[in-house]
Amino acid sequence: MTTAAFDSEAIRALAPSSLFSLEGRVAIVTGAAGGIGRWLAAGLGAAGASVVATDVDEAGLADLESTLAAASIDAAGVVADLADEDAADRIVDAALERFGAVHVVINNAAVNRRMPIAEMDPATWEWIMRVNLRLPYFLSQRAARAMIERREGGSIVSISSLNVEYALEHVSVYGLAKAGLSQLTRHMALEWAEHGIRANAIAPGFMDTPLAAPIWADSDVNRWILNRVPLERPGQPAELVGTCLLLASDAGSFLTGQTLFVDGGARAGGRWFHPDR
Ligand SMILES: NC(=O)c1ccc[n+]([C@@H]2O[C@H](COP(=O)([O-])OP(=O)(O)OC[C@H]3O[C@@H](n4cnc5c(N)ncnc54)[C@H](O)[C@@H]3O)[C@@H](O)[C@H]2O)c1
Repeated sequence: MTTAAFDSEAIRALAPSSLFSLEGRVAIVTGAAGGIGRWLAAGLGAAGASVVATDVDEAGLADLESTLAAASIDAAGVVADLADEDAADRIVDAALERFGAVHVVINNAAVNRRMPIAEMDPATWEWIMRVNLRLPYFLSQRAARAMIERREGGSIVSISSLNVEYALEHVSVYGLAKAGLSQLTRHMALEWAEHGIRANAIAPGFMDTPLAAPIWADSDVNRWILNRVPLERPGQPAELVGTCLLLASDAGSFLTGQTLFVDGGARAGGRWFHPDR
């Protein structure tokens, strides 16, 4: 065990532009055309990463690619349906072919169907679990194999949800999948630490995105949420970028196996009901 030198070179390395840099790294982002994914892809690219952006939404992906190119971000789009058996292989193969390595994986894509447990059917259950948990498992596995082969380590960041600790009604299968993703994060952290691969998750709270549009469109639900979120507003997708860069870069080099809640304080506790909010 050695203590790092405390000198001017070490201090220069603490500048955010160095500490959070992803220069020379290759990052895969699933669901990259979505409300949160596009900001995560842009944030990783702005920190210097080459980005493999993947989504089933071909038009959305093409749009993202041109926006990233205009911002001088090196990005490759891969159209893939994460429910397909060969999706994990196709995405990692594309990253290796185009950029020669994988250093970061962002398991961001997810689907949801709001329905009571009493009405859930097996096909919908399988579909949600397949996209939200099965694919992240095998994509992370496939990417970790490539990382282990290159001996450069890596970082896996999975987008979980506040729902893993604060269950909400009518999203039971989504909640199961997210709880599984946070648990998978711990297992990956344990099994791959010896290869320099870290695994963490981000649990966003109530965000302002298309996926969450139905809850913001309902004024009663809207009021219920704002009464429970100390910051009294939805989170914006861009507000997840800082945490994502922390986990993806060397700034988070001693962080692994964690789920970080980025929720405007929702999990901190409960304030008294304010009828005027
Ligand atoms: N929006 C919120 O309030 C909120 C809160 C907590 C967690 N999250 C999580 O954040 C992540 C991103 O959510 P979002 O709000 O940006 O959702 P979104 O619906 O805007 O984006 C999801 C993206 O995933 C893609 N996708 C869906 N199914 C796919 C499939 N089978 N194959 C390939 N791509 C597929 C969609 O095309 C879309 O571009 C998700 O994991 C979600 O669970 C969101």
